[in-house]
Amino acid sequence: MDEKSFWHIPVLFQEYIDSLNISITKRNIVVDCTLWLGGHAAGIIRKLHEGDVFIGFDLDNDNLKSSRETIEKSVGGFAKENGITIRCIHANFRDIKAKLSELGIDTVTAVCYDLWVSSAHFDDADRGFSFRFAGKLDMRFDRENDGKTAYDLVNRMSEKELIEILRIYGEEPKARFIAEAIVKARKLKPLETTEELTKLIEETSYDPKSVVRSFQGIRIAVNDEFGSIETSLKDTISLLSPEGRCSVITFHSLEDRLVKQIFAEYLQAERDEFTGQDITPALIKKVTKKPILPTEEEMKQNKRSRSAKLRIVEKK
Ligand SMILES: C[S@@+](CC[C@H](N)C(=O)[O-])C[C@H]1O[C@@H](n2cnc3c(N)ncnc32)[C@H](O)[C@@H]1O
Repeated sequence: MDEKSFWHIPVLFQEYIDSLNISITKRNIVVDCTLWLGGHAAGIIRKLHEGDVFIGFDLDNDNLKSSRETIEKSVGGFAKENGITIRCIHANFRDIKAKLSELGIDTVTAVCYDLWVSSAHFDDADRGFSFRFAGKLDMRFDRENDGKTAYDLVNRMSEKELIEILRIYGEEPKARFIAEAIVKARKLKPLETTEELTKLIEETSYDPKSVVRSFQGIRIAVNDEFGSIETSLKDTISLLSPEGRCSVITFHSLEDRLVKQIFAEYLQAERDEFTGQDITPALIKKVTKKPILPTEEEMKQNKRSRSAKLRIVEKK
């Protein structure tokens, strides 16, 4: 186990793996949408059998490389001996349908998401995710894509758009003042670094939490994180076979609310308001009434797990 895998303990490990309902009595096709260090992935693969398929995605090529190494080292031999197919793919999970279709797959038995932003992102100054380090304003998960960076957003968006991003994705109460200050400052010179942005927010808000919240809002917007979650979860529900499972770990109330709302759309049948008859039946059911939370023991051992929530649904 390398240094990175050592300090990253996969959250709700057993609960997440068990939630996927992997069984010897069926052919399992499992998709892990967020590979990173492949900790969960290795646990999932260990439960598979001959003929089963494991597919993993990561949008960040460095993280994908880490997961390929961990998987090869920890379960590569096991998979070969047992006839389990493994594919680790550089992709945004929002493209789950297209990526699986390229592999000739149109139904799967389980899909899982561990939505925390990896610490590899925050600890690398060069990526521009963290106000703790001086770096260029970047914040893209996928650096191989020419998509917008934090620099583009901060320097080119209208004041109104900036207010919305800071308010909705950052839940920043002083969004208007911060957006105003950004627009004023960039008229003199574009904001280029995390340091410049941090200083500007601190001087405008006098609340250190505003920096955390604003960086979060900008990061979510740069990567269209909520758009990806919504598109992907909806496609996952259509891809699942009957009794197929979808499991999602969130770490933030905004993300958890979004996942809950998307699932809610499919948990209820659509009714004709005149006849009271169901037009479209409910497509999924909850596996546990309430989300699964880490035990006291896990929270003691791994502080990062404290805000984790696991939601599981099953296709009808
Ligand atoms: C919390 S980590 C996953 C940790 C993993 N379960 C483990 O056991 O090591 C989340 C990963 O999801 C990736 N990611 C974030 N958004 C993504 C997206 N839209 N599509 C694919 N991967 C994404 C990040 O690059 C990061 O590597």
